[in-house]
Amino acid sequence: MALQQYIRDIQDFPKKGIVFKDITPLLSSPEGTKECLSLLINSLNGKKIDKVVGVESRGFFFATLLAHELNVGFVPVRKPKKLPFTTISASYQLEYGTDTLEIHTDSIKKGDKILIHDDVLASGGTAKAVCELVERLGGEIVQCNFLMELTHLHGRKKLGNKEIFAALTYGEDDNF
Ligand code: PRP
Ligand code: MG
Repeated sequence: MALQQYIRDIQDFPKKGIVFKDITPLLSSPEGTKECLSLLINSLNGKKIDKVVGVESRGFFFATLLAHELNVGFVPVRKPKKLPFTTISASYQLEYGTDTLEIHTDSIKKGDKILIHDDVLASGGTAKAVCELVERLGGEIVQCNFLMELTHLHGRKKLGNKEIFAALTYGEDDNF
């Protein structure tokens, strides 16, 4: 089955006029999960990775699978005040206001080759903040990968020259 068939459109969620791309059918399918994982792994073309950084909360699902598949450690980036050890934080703009993400200071060593994973690349604010956290700890970002990219929101532009891969892409026309 084609990968996009595992993504379900939910009309008017979380608010009216928004078509939410629901990944739970993908998560509940071992075949879909395996296929998606292979796509993400193959996109790395065998490049060396030392750590996979996953973004709370929906990024955690595949980030841990990727880390397991690559036989490397997983590093959580979490919402404020969730991580117990010393952290650094980065803030990013939302439509209204700002949000903050944190990472443990000992989670990445200088020169570590890092794969960043999240479920969705939308405006790119989240991914940009995660890149900033990784680079402040001295990590070298090999790729940022996503289950899906919403291309009409131009998140890529915020990520400069980072290598980006998305297993699925959606444009404005998909939001009917
Ligand atoms: C969603 C999504 C991405 C982010 C993408 O997370 O899971 O992390 O937004 O948006 P952006 O590219 O515009 O920054 P959300 O903050 O809703 O939290 P969740 O993962 O905990 O559901
Ligand atoms: Mg998220």
